[in-house]
Amino acid sequence: KGYTHYTSNKGLAEFREAVAQKLKSENHMDVDPETEVMATVGSMGALSLAMLTIIDPGDEILIPSPGYANYRSQVLMAGGKPVPYRLKEDDAFQPDIEEISNVITGRTKAMVINSPSNPTGAVLSNDVLKEIADLAIERNLIVISDEAYERIIYENAHHVSLASLPGMMHRTISIFTFSKTYAMTGWRIGYAVADEAIISEMTKLQEHLVAHPSSISQIAAIAALTGPDCYVKRMINEYAERRRIMIQGLSNISGIRFLKPMGAFYIFPNVSIFQMSSREFTMYLLENARVIVVPGTAFGRFGEGYIRISYSISRERLKEALERIAESVEKLK
Ligand SMILES: Cc1ncc(COP(=O)(O)O)c(C=O)c1O
Repeated sequence: KGYTHYTSNKGLAEFREAVAQKLKSENHMDVDPETEVMATVGSMGALSLAMLTIIDPGDEILIPSPGYANYRSQVLMAGGKPVPYRLKEDDAFQPDIEEISNVITGRTKAMVINSPSNPTGAVLSNDVLKEIADLAIERNLIVISDEAYERIIYENAHHVSLASLPGMMHRTISIFTFSKTYAMTGWRIGYAVADEAIISEMTKLQEHLVAHPSSISQIAAIAALTGPDCYVKRMINEYAERRRIMIQGLSNISGIRFLKPMGAFYIFPNVSIFQMSSREFTMYLLENARVIVVPGTAFGRFGEGYIRISYSISRERLKEALERIAESVEKLK
């Protein structure tokens, strides 16, 4: 069909229109596809462009800890100062507004939120989102809302886009991707939604960096958005089953404590009882169980005492991994 040439820096008009329709029906966000949406190279591309656009040298950006490791690097890359705000297991890994208020200074420009969360699996509650909105308005902050796992949620959890809350559209940079919902990680396609002034700057930067995401990926993304949703639902059910296996398997291992993840495909067990650092415990599992998990500290210093396990692999392999973890943990007693 000839989609082999350059596209607009903000992506094909058809792509932005399909995205705007999806945002309206699924995220309750009313956006102008011409000025408030742009196609990006995955959510990573959108996050980097957002940081480079809003950060002046020395600006402080609040990032969740434990949180997705790239936020820190992206803030540093843009000349900013990443300031972690702590997410506590006791709060079900929901941000504590008081904790956040305490780290806000005159240099704080923005905060990053991520729901559903990698690595904790927490889905931010409506109440917390409202508190975040109030805080952002009161302290004049931009919020970068990473919604990569918006569709992967369980039980009665409900995903709400921060930008859909009153007064938040113009101060939120909402970031979405096709990577997780459609298992299209390698296609490198996502999108950012924000105020016209921000999207226009991000679009200029995209020209200098990559021009635009691949035209073929934009077309594939339109097919994903406009095609039948049954494949997504089937995969979400499959993740729910893997989550059930994970919860059941880990519950049978004494010493390991965890909160049920409500979204994404990660579980973040507390392993502090074993008297090893997260890194040591991870290495122990690697050497003894031949199972790879990620130390909580890979997600910031407040991840100490935890490990992150991904359950995005097949049920059979998960069961095998759980058995091996159980055997290795038994040896520690
Ligand atoms: C929270 C979060 N944000 C963003 C990304 C990046 O995804 P992509 O660039 O493939 O859209 C990931 C990938 O694991 C993630 O976990």
